[in-house]
Amino acid sequence: MYAITVREAGGPEALRWTEVADPEPGPGEVLLDVAATAVNRADLLQRKGFYPPPAGTSDVIGLECSGTVAALGEGVTGWQVGDEVCALLAGGGYAEKVVVPAGQLMPVPSGVDLVTAAGLPEVACTVWSNVVRTARLGAGETLLVHGGAGGVGTHAIQLAKALGTTVAVTAGSAERLRQCADLGADITVNYREQRFEDEVKADVILDNMGAKYLPRNVAALNRGGRLVVIGLQGGVTGELNLGQLLSKNASVTATSLRYRPPAEKALITAEVAEHVWPLVTAGAVRPITHQVLPLRDAAEAHRLLEAGGVFGKLVLAVRS
Ligand SMILES: NC(=O)c1ccc[n+]([C@@H]2O[C@H](COP(=O)([O-])OP(=O)(O)OC[C@H]3O[C@@H](n4cnc5c(N)ncnc54)[C@H](OP(=O)(O)O)[C@@H]3O)[C@@H](O)[C@H]2O)c1
Repeated sequence: MYAITVREAGGPEALRWTEVADPEPGPGEVLLDVAATAVNRADLLQRKGFYPPPAGTSDVIGLECSGTVAALGEGVTGWQVGDEVCALLAGGGYAEKVVVPAGQLMPVPSGVDLVTAAGLPEVACTVWSNVVRTARLGAGETLLVHGGAGGVGTHAIQLAKALGTTVAVTAGSAERLRQCADLGADITVNYREQRFEDEVKADVILDNMGAKYLPRNVAALNRGGRLVVIGLQGGVTGELNLGQLLSKNASVTATSLRYRPPAEKALITAEVAEHVWPLVTAGAVRPITHQVLPLRDAAEAHRLLEAGGVFGKLVLAVRS
């Protein structure tokens, strides 16, 4: 098969369309013919040599895909050759074929085409696992989503609205904030011009910035608030005022989806298929695709994401 490989850690030009050995499904795994994959910010880090795949995982980049079941490993039940699926991957998505633990497969939500479905697993599993499972966002509460115009942000806005909450977002331009408002965001904050902690008090914050926003995020929490850090775009080491946290009975959690064990991922994908896919089919949560590019042009997709201005997801289709 062909896959995008990294010639030497570095810039987008390091990504090459290369012939590599076909993967083979082991016990409990499924082989997929990939229809499309999608770009995640973590992919940029892996390309630069900073975000290694978990042990035993393909070193091909790619955390999600859609495709068709091509073969079943020993002991797999519930899926058949020919089924159209999407999948949460620990790696290997930028390829014509990928092997994935069967528990990480999900059906394609009814009403969504196979290529578009490639951009759903990572955002849906990230938002569900953090906002619902970890932070227990409830109806009537306020969620603050940093980076509302990104892949995760555009999904989080819609899911949180569907759950009956008030949604605040930060983004870097008036145009991007308008797009977030069109998706349902109630409160919009331009992080280049405003201090979000002066504009919003939130019960749950979904944070992509890490250290840079830590004290300000704690300041923006309501009593009993839950800060969930999922991205470290603003650094890893910050100062946490425990006094402020204590007086608010608040909590801080940091999570990673990629490094969770397969059994935990299977739990998340099952809940996403049960609770989120019906919302997608009903049109309450739409996949937001900025652009579909050929997988061979992965380098161009990485340049686009690095340049900023992508609203939602970049999808990479194996066949154009
Ligand atoms: N822990 C996990 O399991 C997990 C899973 C998925 C994603 N993530 C992380 O979650 C984050 C979002 O992922 P994504 O796929 O949505 O990435 P993305 O599409 O690349 O979006 C990144 C966002 O960061 C925003 N941003 C940049 N500087 C900011 C600032 N100072 N304040 C607020 N926002 C700022 C950008 O907003 P503007 O373009 O408007 O400037 C952009 O929307 C990334 O850091 C990613 O690595 C973590």
